[in-house]
Amino acid sequence: MTAIGLRPARWIDALWVWRQRNRSIHADLVPHRVGLREHWRWWRTHVADSRLCQLWILTDARGQRLGFVRFDRARDGRTMTVSMVMVSRYRNQGWGGLGLELALYQTRVLWPAVSRVEAYVRPDNVRAQMFWRRHRFVRDSLADHVFDGLCYTRSLTHAAGLSVSVSPSG
Ligand SMILES: CC(C)(COP(=O)(O)OP(=O)(O)OC[C@H]1O[C@@H](n2cnc3c(N)ncnc32)[C@H](O)[C@@H]1OP(=O)(O)O)[C@@H](O)C(=O)NCCC(=O)NCCS
Repeated sequence: MTAIGLRPARWIDALWVWRQRNRSIHADLVPHRVGLREHWRWWRTHVADSRLCQLWILTDARGQRLGFVRFDRARDGRTMTVSMVMVSRYRNQGWGGLGLELALYQTRVLWPAVSRVEAYVRPDNVRAQMFWRRHRFVRDSLADHVFDGLCYTRSLTHAAGLSVSVSPSG
């Protein structure tokens, strides 16, 4: 039987997240490599502040890291953005979808006032766009300008329970 785990990111994950992030810069709205110093600063001032950021590590049953999901809360307290990266060898097996729903569920427990989640995607990142649509995100072209990418959004107001629409193979 396979299982997926979810835990908050810790300092010990910072280097791993940095590597994964730089390996997937092709998916970034502004594709530039982040230096280690810049990454530490961001981790200290942003990731470590649970009012601003919830960063989750997805693991398999043995604790092996499969990817991460990050939520950043906007100043209004009602909107958050999501971004995620799966380790390339674990993609397209259903893990990302399961991880997204689990992380969303946990984050809503911590930030119950958030009613809208947004994902900003590069126009050429077709796979990611399909992924968000599959997970009940819809296009909101009026918000594209906020981060200069294609905005996909999902309303959280009526989704009270955990909803998992994919299951891993294997
Ligand atoms: C986008 C991303 C996070 C998706 O993660 P993932 O683990 O590949 O996602 P899933 O496996 O759940 O779904 C992807 C595809 O796998 C396939 N899939 C889903 N469940 C499956 C299963 N049980 N068995 C086999 N294949 C499956 C589906 O075809 C799905 O395609 P669809 O979304 O078009 O329907 C991942 O591709 C990634 O890290 N990309 C690089 C970074 C990026 O683009 N991030 C998004 C921008 S913020």
